[in-house]
Amino acid sequence: MLSVDFSFAERFVSGEQIKSIYDEVFQAHKKIHEDKVFEPIGWLDLPKKYDKKVVDEIIIEAQNIRKNCDVFIVIGIGGSYLGARAAIEFLHSNNYNLLENTPKIFFVGNSISSDELYEIMQICKNKSVCINVISKSGTTTEPAIAFRFFRDFLESVYGKSGAKERIYCTTDSGSNLKKLADEMGYKTFIIPQNIGGRYSVLSPVGLFPMAVTGIDVKKVLGGALNALTDYSIYGENLNDCYKYAAIRNLFYRQGKVTEIMVGYHPKMHYFTEWWKQLFGESEGKNGRGIFPASAIFSTDLHSLGQYIQQGLRNLFETVINVKKTNNDLIISESQNNADGLNYLSGKSVNFVNQKALEATLLAHTNGGVPNIVLNLDSFSEENFGYLVYFFEKACAVSACLLGVNPFNQPGVENYKKEMFKLLGKPNF
Ligand code: PA5
Repeated sequence: MLSVDFSFAERFVSGEQIKSIYDEVFQAHKKIHEDKVFEPIGWLDLPKKYDKKVVDEIIIEAQNIRKNCDVFIVIGIGGSYLGARAAIEFLHSNNYNLLENTPKIFFVGNSISSDELYEIMQICKNKSVCINVISKSGTTTEPAIAFRFFRDFLESVYGKSGAKERIYCTTDSGSNLKKLADEMGYKTFIIPQNIGGRYSVLSPVGLFPMAVTGIDVKKVLGGALNALTDYSIYGENLNDCYKYAAIRNLFYRQGKVTEIMVGYHPKMHYFTEWWKQLFGESEGKNGRGIFPASAIFSTDLHSLGQYIQQGLRNLFETVINVKKTNNDLIISESQNNADGLNYLSGKSVNFVNQKALEATLLAHTNGGVPNIVLNLDSFSEENFGYLVYFFEKACAVSACLLGVNPFNQPGVENYKKEMFKLLGKPNF
C-alpha cells in the first residue's frame, strides 16, 4: 500500500498555505466528479466498471500467446505503449527479455527510427511472432508505419491467413484500424471511447501486453480500485492524492516549475516515462504547466545530482520509495578489505539503497529542493495499479488547479501538420 510522506515538503509550504487552496481543490474535485465538464473521463470509474468479459478474454488470448509465440511485438506510441512498458519493467525487470521464459517483448512504432525497425525485424526472423498494434485513433503515423512493416513481415512468413491469427488490434470502435481489422479478420480489443490515450493503461491498451508477460491484471485492477475508493471522497482533510496535487501547485506558484520524478531502481525508468507523458500532455498548455522531468538514483546522482543540489532553485522532487526488493543481496566480508567496504559486510544492497535515499532527501531539502515521498512496501501488481490511479487522479486535479483541460492535447497536432506538409500528405 501507498503512504505519502510530506514532511520533506512542509518546510517549504505552510499548513496555512495548503488550507488556502482547499476550496480550489474542492472545485477541481467537483469539476471531475459532479460537473462532468470534461470528456473523456471513463478512466475515473474504470477499476470499478471495467468489462469483466473483456478482461477474461484478454487473459485467455494472452495465455495462447505465451504458449505459442517466441516474440510479442507491441506497436504504439505515447499513451498507447508507455503504461504497458512501465508495468512490465516495474513488475518484472528492465532486463525482462533476458530473464524470462515467456515471449520476448519488443516495443516499436514509438519512433520513426529505421534502424530500430530493421533490428527488431531481424530479431524476429525464424521466431514465432505475434503482434499487438495499439492506436486509439488508428491514424498515428509512427505506429502505422511500423504496423505496415510488421504486417508485411508476418504475411511473408505465414501468408495472409496465418498472419491474421497473429495480429491483435487495440483501437477505438470507430477507427480506420478497426475497419481494417474487421476486413482482415484480426482479433480486436476496443478502447472505450470515453478513455483517452494517456489515461488508458488500465484498459486493454495496457492490460493485454501486461497479461502476455504473465502479470495478474486482475490484481492490478484491484489495486487501482483501492485507490479509487481512497481518493473519491472530498473531506475536511485533503486525501493524500489531493494533497499532492495541492502542494505541487503551491510549489509552482513559488516558481518551482520543474518536478523531477525519482525512482531508486532502473526498472522504474519507464514508470517515470509514463508519468512524464501523463503530466506533460495534461498540464502543459495555455502557457502554463509544471515541466515533468525524471531521474533514477543513485545512477543520476552522478549526472544530475550536482544540478539538483546547487543549480537553479526552480525544482522539486517526488520520490517513489519501494521499500522491499524482490531479491536482496548481502554484501560479503573481505579478508584484506582492499576496497575498504568491510564496514558494509553483512548489510544488504537494499539497505544501502535506502540509506542513499534517506541521505539524498536530507541533502536535497537542505539545498532548497522540496521533496514529496511516496512509500510503497513492494513491487506488487496491486501497488502498481494503486500508483497509476493515484497519479491519474492527481493529474486531473492538478490540471484543474492550473486552469487547463487535463484531457486534450491540442499542441501535439502542430508538429504533425508541419511534418505532413513536408511529406506531401494529401490535404496538408
Ligand atoms: O495521451 C494521448 O492521447 C496520446 O499520447 C496518444 O496516446 C498518442 O498520441 C497515441 O495516439 P493513438 O493511440 O491514437 O495512436
